[in-house]
Amino acid sequence: MQFTGTAPLLVFGGPYSNREAVLALRAEARCLGIGADRIICTGDTIAYCADPEETVALIRDWGVHIIAGNCEEQVAARAADCGCGFDDDTTCNVLSKGWYPYANAHVSDASRSWMATLPTTLRFNYGGASFRVVHGGVTRINKFIFASEAATLASEAASAHADVVIAGHMGLPFIARTGRQVWFNAGVIGMPANDGTADTWFGLITASDDAVKLETRRLSYDFHTAAARLRRSGHANTYARSLVTGLWPSLDILPEAEQLATGKRLRPKSLVFKRTGSSRHSTVNAAAL
Ligand SMILES: [Fe+2]
Repeated sequence: MQFTGTAPLLVFGGPYSNREAVLALRAEARCLGIGADRIICTGDTIAYCADPEETVALIRDWGVHIIAGNCEEQVAARAADCGCGFDDDTTCNVLSKGWYPYANAHVSDASRSWMATLPTTLRFNYGGASFRVVHGGVTRINKFIFASEAATLASEAASAHADVVIAGHMGLPFIARTGRQVWFNAGVIGMPANDGTADTWFGLITASDDAVKLETRRLSYDFHTAAARLRRSGHANTYARSLVTGLWPSLDILPEAEQLATGKRLRPKSLVFKRTGSSRHSTVNAAAL
């Protein structure tokens, strides 16, 4: 995969069967003037929400670059569970027995075949930096990588052999330096980020003559319709509530630091790689809302 010029790239994860969120991001991309050939999705087209087949159709019609998440892998294989790797006794595992069978049953054979064709990783160069796109971790598709777990983050990044790792899966947006590398989770568009707001998240990457900027951005969308459709489908009322409250139904997967951030409004973040000759320095900024 190659990107020429310095026009921005848009990255996002986790459409999660949320048709309204995909429609909103398509509109946002149009406003930003970013075409499908400069947009990357980190996978999990289908999951919790009401419209698996319609969401796949919207993503395919859009024509963005996309890798497989664990959900595409499992549905393509007609597997019995979501492959998230939840422990048996967790609430996430119990809830997955509601949404996964629904998602698995509501995709066409054509969509299943498309999922089977998706790559599991992508590499590209842009603005003088090398990028690697993965779903969860570099070493495992369903690995949850958190900003607060520095050692795991460093180890996974070192395996990527790239300046920047773009990842999804985990559901919370963050940008973290680890040594000379950066881990960039652009968040997911199909479910809020447990910050007490209904907005979801995507990312932008913009090159200039001497720098590359990474940003996380909010996506406002018609969550009332998404939640109403999910309630009508009857398979995941707990997640329908999350679409409105912005709070996850379970904190099972989260380390303590991320648990403590529950309900605290996230701020968009940015990080700039500044290149000076052959060296590269980065600064992290929190942009005001
Ligand atoms: Fe995933």
